[in-house]
Amino acid sequence: MRAWKCVTWGGPNYLELGSVPEPECDAGQVEITVNACGVNFADLLLISGQFQVRPELPFVPGMEVSGRITRLGPDCEMFSLGQKAAAYVKHGGYAEKVVAPVSQVTSIPESIPLPVAAAFPVSYGSAELALDRAGLAAGEVVVIGGAAGAVGTACIELAKQRGAEVIACVGDDAKEAIARACGADHIVSSHSRHLYDDLREIAPDGVNVIIDPVGGIFFEESLRALGYGGRVVSLGFASGKIPSIRLNHFLVRHQSLVGSSFGLTCVKDPDRISAKWPLLVEMLEAGHINPRVSQTRSFAELPKALQMLKDRKVAGRIVIS
Ligand SMILES: NC(=O)c1ccc[n+]([C@@H]2O[C@H](COP(=O)([O-])OP(=O)(O)OC[C@H]3O[C@@H](n4cnc5c(N)ncnc54)[C@H](OP(=O)(O)O)[C@@H]3O)[C@@H](O)[C@H]2O)c1
Repeated sequence: MRAWKCVTWGGPNYLELGSVPEPECDAGQVEITVNACGVNFADLLLISGQFQVRPELPFVPGMEVSGRITRLGPDCEMFSLGQKAAAYVKHGGYAEKVVAPVSQVTSIPESIPLPVAAAFPVSYGSAELALDRAGLAAGEVVVIGGAAGAVGTACIELAKQRGAEVIACVGDDAKEAIARACGADHIVSSHSRHLYDDLREIAPDGVNVIIDPVGGIFFEESLRALGYGGRVVSLGFASGKIPSIRLNHFLVRHQSLVGSSFGLTCVKDPDRISAKWPLLVEMLEAGHINPRVSQTRSFAELPKALQMLKDRKVAGRIVIS
């Protein structure tokens, strides 16, 4: 079958379009014939060898897919052939077919277009897990970094569903418009040299929660604006800068810092992930959450799409279909 292959560690232009054998479908796995694949920031880390796991070369990248179920391994009776589905896979999504463990697969209502479904499982699965890790409650103030990105937009929508007040940190006017459309109450600029002051003006008593997929200056400045009992959830380092922390900061303000890893939780605690799908899909079908597909690109355009993400030119999700 046709697939994009990572044959050597590097940037998007090192990927090769070629053919690979069809995947095996073992017990507890379903095969999805891929219609669309969400382009993730973590794809860039994976193909450059900077991700927390390094698959053996060569491998097929791509971690967020939608399509129809075309094969069922043993013990997969909860799904049926031909069913519309979306899934998180460790890699393998930029191909005609992929297999996924059932806990990482969700059925998708017929009313949802497949390219939209491809922007759903990783973004919303990761965002929901992160907000759980924060214990975000109604009435609390949350600041979200990279808020117009795929995970960021999902965080805004799910935080609003929880009744929180959302401050979105974004890089330009187009991204501000997306964040506002997702329901953000306040906007701050990720290029501001006074992010702490900007946050303090909006939340004089301090913010309750920081959701941080960016690291670097965003982490350092927003941490200064975290109030008594506040929680930080570290999700990633899109800025490329991994901050260091001074532990006394957390003690004297009675605060906590937790990491949240969607990918590892899929492996270590799959029931926690599968338990989330029905509620998330219900919100999707009801229109309470709306995966933002900013562009749909052809299969051949994958390197270009990844480069746009790298250059910080994407709001929401680019989808390959
Ligand atoms: N831990 C988990 O469970 C989990 C799951 C999924 C993703 N992630 C991580 O979450 C982060 C966001 O993923 P995503 O798919 O939402 O990516 P994305 O759509 O590309 O969003 C990333 C955002 O980060 C901001 N950013 C700030 N500095 C940047 C820089 N130097 N280069 C690029 N972007 C920069 C950009 O916002 P502005 O330009 O508006 O400032 C951009 O919109 C990544 O680090 C990813 O690895 C973690």
